[in-house]
Amino acid sequence: MPALPNSHEALLKNLQHLHGRVAVLGPVDISLMPALAPSGLVVTEHFGLWQQMTTIDGWAAAFGYDDEALAPAIADTIVVFLPKARAELALRLALASWLAAPGARVTLVGEKKEGVAGAVKQLKAVAPGAVKIDSARHCQVWQAEILPPAEIFDISQWQTWHPVECAGIRFDVAGLPGIFSAGELDAGTAMLLESLADEPLKAGPVLDFACGAGVIGTWLQLYQRSLGQPVTQVDGVDVQSQAVICARSTYQRAAALGTIVASDGLDRVDGKYAVVLSNPPFHTGIRTDTSMTEEFLRQVAGHLLPGGELRLVANSFLPYEDLIRRHVGPVKAITTDKRFTVWSAREDKKKPLG
Ligand SMILES: C[S@@+](CC[C@H](N)C(=O)[O-])C[C@H]1O[C@@H](n2cnc3c(N)ncnc32)[C@H](O)[C@@H]1O
Repeated sequence: MPALPNSHEALLKNLQHLHGRVAVLGPVDISLMPALAPSGLVVTEHFGLWQQMTTIDGWAAAFGYDDEALAPAIADTIVVFLPKARAELALRLALASWLAAPGARVTLVGEKKEGVAGAVKQLKAVAPGAVKIDSARHCQVWQAEILPPAEIFDISQWQTWHPVECAGIRFDVAGLPGIFSAGELDAGTAMLLESLADEPLKAGPVLDFACGAGVIGTWLQLYQRSLGQPVTQVDGVDVQSQAVICARSTYQRAAALGTIVASDGLDRVDGKYAVVLSNPPFHTGIRTDTSMTEEFLRQVAGHLLPGGELRLVANSFLPYEDLIRRHVGPVKAITTDKRFTVWSAREDKKKPLG
């Protein structure tokens, strides 16, 4: 079996501290669960992981913070893995308080380099007696009885709104803890939107791959509306539950058209599109990781209509140009600066074989 992440190994070293019904929030490797207990509840905001977790015998799997498998007072031990974003830790701890049966304990596990020591203050807000029960594998494990359980957990109460503006189009974007670029317009996304104003797209359905909070699809439709042009439906996919929730909310507030679905890569995309737009991911946790985007580039031509366009913004240092040429077709940089490049490629049947 491949090695488990350090945080998972650190938890397994402390099995004696888990009791009763176990819930696990935010693990990244499914082989942890059978090693923890014969049954339990696991919660992940990553759609691909959730799909794998539904196959673990005896365990219920919840996708994100609004899954119907979540219910009050159903767990005696709630394990919380430290997420990348501190704001998402607050969300996980609030969910933990709601899942907690009377007398339940919460266990926080995280890597030192991810700042677990600094997160303990947040833990103590729901479990004031928290003590460090182990320090192992570059991680710390903390545990305490959780305060009297929360009576309500409603993800919609965590949703925030912030205005963004680009090329004269202003609108509100929904936010939730852990979502990409919460509270501001990402500079790469802005460059992609400006390219859409400078070099309009051909007509036809559009897909926004890795849509986050739905900024690209909403902006495009409001821009077309402002020019009195026919409005293009923009479907969106994202792997993260919070992104799917927020993109649907952002679309709804702006009366934008398009279906938003959870998908790991292009797995749940059936149709073909005249245009695929993207500001794709290049991180896994805190590490740079371009593998998801490379996989997307290898597959995206299968979702473009003949002659369809892929338009993508990426950090200029990322090595995508050759991959795009090989798997999609002729490619050009529409705009580029030290930080970002907007690439445009036309689907071409005669592209070199990948
Ligand atoms: C750079 S952000 C862009 C978000 C949005 N398009 C914007 O411009 O504001 C990348 C997005 O990719 C999503 N993502 C990461 N891995 C993914 C995967 N395997 N499949 C689909 N989306 C993924 C993340 O959840 C994140 O929302």
